[in-house]
Amino acid sequence: MCGIFGIITNEEQILGPILIDAARRLSYRGYDSVGCATVSTGGEIDLRKDVGCVNDVSARLRFAEMRGYRGITQLRWATFGAPSYENAQPHLDSDGDMVGAHNGNVVNNVQMRELFIREGLTVRGTNDGETCVHAVERHFDRNGGQMLEAIRAAYNDLEGDYAFVITHRDDHRLYAIKKGSGLVAGLGDGLTCVSSDLPSILPLTRRILRVYDGEIVVLSPEGVELYGVHDGARIDRRTEWYDGPIEVAEKGGYPHFMLKEIHEQPTVAGELLHLLNGSRHVGRFLDALRAPGGRPVYLVGCGTSYHACLLGAYYFNQLAGVAAVPVLGPQFIEQYGQSVGPADTAVFVSQSGETKDVLNAVKVMRQRGGRVLGVLNVLGSTLMNASDVYLPLACGYEISVPATKTFVNQAVLFLYLAHRLAERDTAELDNLPGLLALVTELSEEPARAVTAYLQGWDDLYYLGYGLTHPIALEGALKLKEITYAHCEGIFSSEFKHGPLSAVHDGYPVVFIAAPGDEMMMINHVNEVTVRGGRSIVIAAQHEALHSNAHDYLVVDETDRYLWPILATVPAQLVAYFMSVARGIDPDFPRNLSKTLTVD
Ligand code: F6R
Repeated sequence: MCGIFGIITNEEQILGPILIDAARRLSYRGYDSVGCATVSTGGEIDLRKDVGCVNDVSARLRFAEMRGYRGITQLRWATFGAPSYENAQPHLDSDGDMVGAHNGNVVNNVQMRELFIREGLTVRGTNDGETCVHAVERHFDRNGGQMLEAIRAAYNDLEGDYAFVITHRDDHRLYAIKKGSGLVAGLGDGLTCVSSDLPSILPLTRRILRVYDGEIVVLSPEGVELYGVHDGARIDRRTEWYDGPIEVAEKGGYPHFMLKEIHEQPTVAGELLHLLNGSRHVGRFLDALRAPGGRPVYLVGCGTSYHACLLGAYYFNQLAGVAAVPVLGPQFIEQYGQSVGPADTAVFVSQSGETKDVLNAVKVMRQRGGRVLGVLNVLGSTLMNASDVYLPLACGYEISVPATKTFVNQAVLFLYLAHRLAERDTAELDNLPGLLALVTELSEEPARAVTAYLQGWDDLYYLGYGLTHPIALEGALKLKEITYAHCEGIFSSEFKHGPLSAVHDGYPVVFIAAPGDEMMMINHVNEVTVRGGRSIVIAAQHEALHSNAHDYLVVDETDRYLWPILATVPAQLVAYFMSVARGIDPDFPRNLSKTLTVD
């Protein structure tokens, strides 16, 4: 949620294109509004911002022509304050001397705003990013213009988790602070910069400086200094050279990142398997999973990552006889937070590695002395740093807000681990990339055809049984996320226990049946069709099941455990085509953000 970027260079120049590029690279974090501010050598602040996505707003407000030697850009995912011009970031302080922007949540925002208003500050909106700026302004005015000290004092006033970047027209530096939200600094030739994450920094420099919670970053064109917020003492830390790939945010000929990322699934699955076969971390990971001695392993995630945990639990239980409990991040705290202890292990799964709901659960597990294993896509993320051992998903950058390839690789990773726990040969998994490529090719037309029917409905169900239950949940989540239709995924045998009453003439229900479950699924299909519902079945070719269904999407029969991963693809494609048919941009569905760093 929200992304910030700040830069300072050794001479005044047209900074607009750099800021636009950084904003584009951060836009997966929020696209309710966007803004840029530049400061000239003469101290003039040019602030342009508005509601909308970066391409539209930057063209309309001509960000490209903005000049200066200091610049800030911010992408907003609204939490405090509706998306509006006033709440768009960056924000000015009362007299327009300071400009700043934040990412995160200041939970005492309302109380702070009331205080500012009582004290006569000019409060223009209701956003907590503005609160960060006023909090600094207030102490700056009192302490005779010391930015570092003003930020340290503001830190004591602002409750919550956030990071912000701020600058004063007469102070030739840029300041940033990290408290719970992501922040990393970069040192380039004649410039330094700071950002919520790496992709916006890498086009400028590969020399980076990690920043930890409770640290203030002071940027000048010559270098970056770090200070502890509590004691104000200088912190020495070496910079690092990042030699990973610079992810190119290009669609590669596809109309949307989502479709591109679905098509990347065979490749990234192959790369992940290759990596796992050669990884020394896998042995340590498996040792930790075996350690509990009969105690269940917790698999913790949110949203799509939680669905992967559900599937992982089936794999661990069915293939390896390892009891695994899939659980949502906050649910882990509420349900098991008092009972887990040093003998327990939890695997925390997160594409971004920054999801607050997951990181809160990590914190509880740490406090209770348990083992923390991480599964993540973004290297360098908070989850990676917080894990005893981690495994990467090796998907490359996932730009589209709906997770696709990272779900597939989470599932592949769990399947691989289950095989290793069961001491089964993992060679059969090597077929997965080829099978994924085939199912992607064969599913496009049938998925498009089914969409033509679903298009007219704003309410439907996805049903799965056992191994396909997580896929039904994931299919339903993808569909509701990017088509705005209501879609619920449930265990197919549960349908008759209540939801069946929703069925009436033509009402669509999508069934996913794994090889071996077809005869049982026929009952669930018929419960719907005899009541006038329309059954859309995703299954391997099966005569009896096929003859009972209205629409049938074939996913060729293969190993029972590999098959649910393949069945994910038509579900993703149905959601994608329906979204496009509705005129929605599936990459950036309304109200959502790719990285959710708030409770
Ligand atoms: C849905 C989706 C979300 C995320 C969830 C957790 O397509 O992407 O449900 O799965 O917000 O995010 P991560 O995996 O980054 O922890």
